[in-house]
Amino acid sequence: MVLWAEDCLEGLPRRVGAGGADVVVTSPPYNRGVAYGRYDDRRPREEYLAWIGRVADAVHAALAPHGSFFLNVGGSPTDPWLPLDVAQELRRRFVLQNVIHWVKSIAIERALAGATPHLTGDIAVGHYKPVPSRRFLHGAQEYVFHFTHRGDVSLDRLAVGVPYQDKSNVARWRSGGADRRCRGNTWFLPYATIRRRVTDRPHPATFPPELPERCYRLHGTDRIRLAVDPFVGLGASAVAAARLGLPFVGFDVDVHYLATASRRLHEALPSPRPPTGPRVSRKSQVPGPRR
Ligand SMILES: C[S@@+](CC[C@H](N)C(=O)[O-])C[C@H]1O[C@@H](n2cnc3c(N)ncnc32)[C@H](O)[C@@H]1O
Repeated sequence: MVLWAEDCLEGLPRRVGAGGADVVVTSPPYNRGVAYGRYDDRRPREEYLAWIGRVADAVHAALAPHGSFFLNVGGSPTDPWLPLDVAQELRRRFVLQNVIHWVKSIAIERALAGATPHLTGDIAVGHYKPVPSRRFLHGAQEYVFHFTHRGDVSLDRLAVGVPYQDKSNVARWRSGGADRRCRGNTWFLPYATIRRRVTDRPHPATFPPELPERCYRLHGTDRIRLAVDPFVGLGASAVAAARLGLPFVGFDVDVHYLATASRRLHEALPSPRPPTGPRVSRKSQVPGPRR
């Protein structure tokens, strides 16, 4: 487990090398003016997309022939095209094998839930960020684009599968036999509730560790020799890798985020800790962590 305080454009070729990553799960800055510590998230669109293209080139070189690249990007009410523009940039290098919708909150009416035995009433669950607008709905979804080199990567769908509601399907469908079916491409994953943002989640744009964990399982954990995150932030992808016992390399230009990532990683690693990890390595021009 290594977290590098380094620009991923330099770090990917240097630390991972050609074809060294079996799975990449990441979320880049979205260029929406978010107040990151070291990164300027307000750049002209063309410049930002050209940079995303360079990141895509670096990941393309680092990704193994049968690797998976899961790219999480979200839009905003006033800029719904952003994730699709990013995906178009990636389209020049990769095949878009799956589009997953990360659902942060959802409302389900009991009357529409069919014969579901446990649901006794309507539910509205998950993260709710009100938008004071008469035009826009609140944003409850982000994309996770699943890119591969040729669109032919076998996935372990049942590793992230769900039980059948109607048990007669267990025998009916060939994928049955076990009581498990493909979950599909809508993933409800809320954020953990926190008390104080500044101490509990000191970063403006994270995903929950359950998101990368599900991506790793879907790719197939037995085929992952190295998981990589070029934009590791507070280390959700590293925590997920630790939970599954996967070797991991991550990069971020902000040592303060990496300090939190390292602490979370320590907490996630099984005891006794392996002698090698986690380790935060730092390039000389990046300032040291705050004391
Ligand atoms: C959307 S956040 C990632 C958050 C992460 N998924 C998490 O759950 O904590 C993007 C991160 O990219 C970092 N970053 C920006 N430019 C970078 C670069 N060139 N190389 C590495 N990291 C960079 C930012 O500091 C920021 O922490």
